[in-house]
Amino acid sequence: MNSWTSLFASLIAVIALVLIALFGVGAIGLDTLFGVVIPYIASAVFVVGIVYRIIDWARVPVPFRIPTTCGQGKSLPWIKADNLESPYNMWGLIGRMALEVLLFRSLFRNTKAELREGPNVVYGSAKWLWLGGIAFHYAFLTIVIRHIRFFVEPIPSFVEILSSLDGFFQILVPTLFLTDIAFLAAVTYLFLRRVLVPQMRYISLPADYFPLLLILGIGISGVLMRNVWKVDLLSVKQLAMGLFTLHPVVPAGINPIFYVHLFLVSVLFAYFPFSKLMHAGGVFLSPTRNLANVNRSERYVNPWNYPVKVHTYEEYEDEFRAKMKEAGIPVDKE
Ligand code: HEM
Repeated sequence: MNSWTSLFASLIAVIALVLIALFGVGAIGLDTLFGVVIPYIASAVFVVGIVYRIIDWARVPVPFRIPTTCGQGKSLPWIKADNLESPYNMWGLIGRMALEVLLFRSLFRNTKAELREGPNVVYGSAKWLWLGGIAFHYAFLTIVIRHIRFFVEPIPSFVEILSSLDGFFQILVPTLFLTDIAFLAAVTYLFLRRVLVPQMRYISLPADYFPLLLILGIGISGVLMRNVWKVDLLSVKQLAMGLFTLHPVVPAGINPIFYVHLFLVSVLFAYFPFSKLMHAGGVFLSPTRNLANVNRSERYVNPWNYPVKVHTYEEYEDEFRAKMKEAGIPVDKE
């Protein structure tokens, strides 16, 4: 598929999903299907899919330690080892993994190669992807935590505190959340980067565009619901709590935009385990990241080694000493 076709196919797919939900609820009143049946199926696919993928990865044999490293590995006691860049024990491993998962450390070191006059290849720092990535993931996390308010009663205090911090500047009524702005800006950047940078567009597939557009659709429908076409939050909460407590109810009269939001979220859930979004789980199961580099500090002996008849140098010299001396080759023993 050519790169523009990939983009348009993904865009059409997301628009079709929006129209399906609008038509399904707005025109033919399938509230229960979109409010209960589909979210439950999607959640089941999400859980079963993730368990399946994790078990599948965990069963792959890893016969060698293959950590990626960029520092001195542990070997002889007098060579200073770098436990973070080339972890040799559990603490180093946890430290490096935590920095990777929480701060996207390897992405922070991203570089960009450019051909300048000369011609010379010049490497420069490239932090925008890191910034977009980290802003997107933390905004997403905050939004999901804030959503807890729909699913439980009473609302936990940490959710209230987070929401009031997030709406600290009290821009607009109801308050525009800072994470909503960060979320939409970051996803838009990640999307435009693929569309506008020719090299990125060349390597982008529907599997790259679709999740971004889907997530953008979820964000836009969410913000529209909060700031433009208001939905009845009491009814939403009734529906959400019903889903959560396995006693589903479908209150009448919720604006169809809510069902668009919920349907896109359901599609995201069902799609997640089979997509690149599984990097969320994969990072922990990656043998290049989850193994300590003890390749040189520990001796590995092949368990199926058999005794090999060897011819040592000493024996060799004993055999050829006279000839070696005659040819002027230095010998160990006179
Ligand atoms: C991947 C999961 C989800 C994401 C990323 C997401 C994203 C968003 C965003 C960005 C907003 C804008 C306002 C805000 O930040 O609160 C929003 C609002 C909203 N979302 Fe979601 N959402 C998700 C799941 C859900 C689910 C499962 C429900 C079902 C109850 C839901 C119901 C709502 C409602 C009712 C609003 C309007 C809030 C208001 O008026 O204050 N969302 N969502």
